[in-house]
Amino acid sequence: MGLKLTDTFVKGFIGNEEVSCMKAQAETAYMQLMRGDSQGNDYLGWVKLPENYDKDEFSRIKIAAEKIKKSCDVFVVIGIGGSYLGARAAIEFVKSPIYNNLKKDTPDIYFAGNNISPTALSELVSICEGKDVCINVISKSGTTTEPAIAFRVFKSMLVDKYGEAEAVKRIFVTTDKCRGTLKEFSDKAGYETFVVPDDVGGRFSVLTAVGLLPIAVAGIDIDAMMKGAADAMNKYTSSSFLEENEALKYAVLRNILYRKGKCTEILVGYEPYALMFNEWWKQLYGESEGKDKKGIFPASVVFSTDLHSLGQYIQDGQRNLFETVVKVCDPGTSFIIPNDPANVDGLNFIAGKDLDFVNKTAMLATLMAHNDGGVPNILIELDDRTAYSFGYIVYFFEFACGVSGYMLGVNPFNQPGVEAYKKNMFALLGKPGYEKEGEALRKRAGI
Ligand code: PA5
Repeated sequence: MGLKLTDTFVKGFIGNEEVSCMKAQAETAYMQLMRGDSQGNDYLGWVKLPENYDKDEFSRIKIAAEKIKKSCDVFVVIGIGGSYLGARAAIEFVKSPIYNNLKKDTPDIYFAGNNISPTALSELVSICEGKDVCINVISKSGTTTEPAIAFRVFKSMLVDKYGEAEAVKRIFVTTDKCRGTLKEFSDKAGYETFVVPDDVGGRFSVLTAVGLLPIAVAGIDIDAMMKGAADAMNKYTSSSFLEENEALKYAVLRNILYRKGKCTEILVGYEPYALMFNEWWKQLYGESEGKDKKGIFPASVVFSTDLHSLGQYIQDGQRNLFETVVKVCDPGTSFIIPNDPANVDGLNFIAGKDLDFVNKTAMLATLMAHNDGGVPNILIELDDRTAYSFGYIVYFFEFACGVSGYMLGVNPFNQPGVEAYKKNMFALLGKPGYEKEGEALRKRAGI
């Protein structure tokens, strides 16, 4: 099956005629994406990527992953935004959110360079003490501040620990093919390098070396992941008819809801392993659509946990929300609820039942309660949490995002807004060349 989209819990909010009206727009957006003749068309490498990827590099990724597995206890993945979210999402989704605590024959994996926290960095440095370490720095531009600082720290840690010659063998770099200082530096230093393709933006890069190397190090089957993505690609790129294409349908439903004032979409998962997948999805949609003063704000929750914190708002707060629920049909694990002779909690009526049955019942109950509270719910059902299914749903959301962005009338493949804070930060930090801006900002802040 792969993936199924159900609109049962949206029907009360959207009329059939609204869907029919939007059909033509969806088909146009689909054609824009397929022909590659619209805004951002130099960043469409991800569309055919699941089949059209560098097979030699793919083999090198597998070889490097085996080398890394054999030579370290701790693998530090340095990157931010699209240069880390996909890998982390995959590892947590397919393996576990507590992957590092599991019994395994693969290294612990930590993510660095995705914040500017002195605490996080020093904690990770101390975790590495006495351990064998390899690192993978991932930065398309090679100049992003957060990973660049972390790279300095871990590079010098490796050199101090192993000496220059051995450190070189433990540093893996994923960056632009030929441009940029990181590529130049890596070639001179002799690090093994992998490519972020020119025509694939960070948030669409999980199926390139950006995601694949860390994912392979975690012991996840990257062939199966690419196969899932390829099957999804063949499905969603083969028809512009709404009735046959669930990615288009998702784009249509969310655009109708947005035009009716539902300007926040909450991606809902029902397992802790969904948390980082939600973060990946938030970047994909937030950075692709939030521009020109438009766009749905992407939020996320993990239920039932967040039903006890955000549940009240979703049920009863401002009615500008809709939810997209990702149901993973087969949890892959069974856990039977024990009988308790004392029955203090009165729950013996579910003793002997599988916990997943209760989780799925909570899902259905919540879908209907939120619906009754005025929240449309799009339901997406995924077979399971295998590498194949992960690749499948990644491609589904990527393709729907491209269509949805074009329907919204924005360029879904740029991110000009990300630069504003960087400019101010450099000016305030005193970066050469930013003197005037720095002075103006300090005056404005009264410092
Ligand atoms: O999606 C994007 O383009 C961004 O999130 C980037 O991935 C992020 O800013 C990191 O950039 P870089 O890979 O150049 O360090």
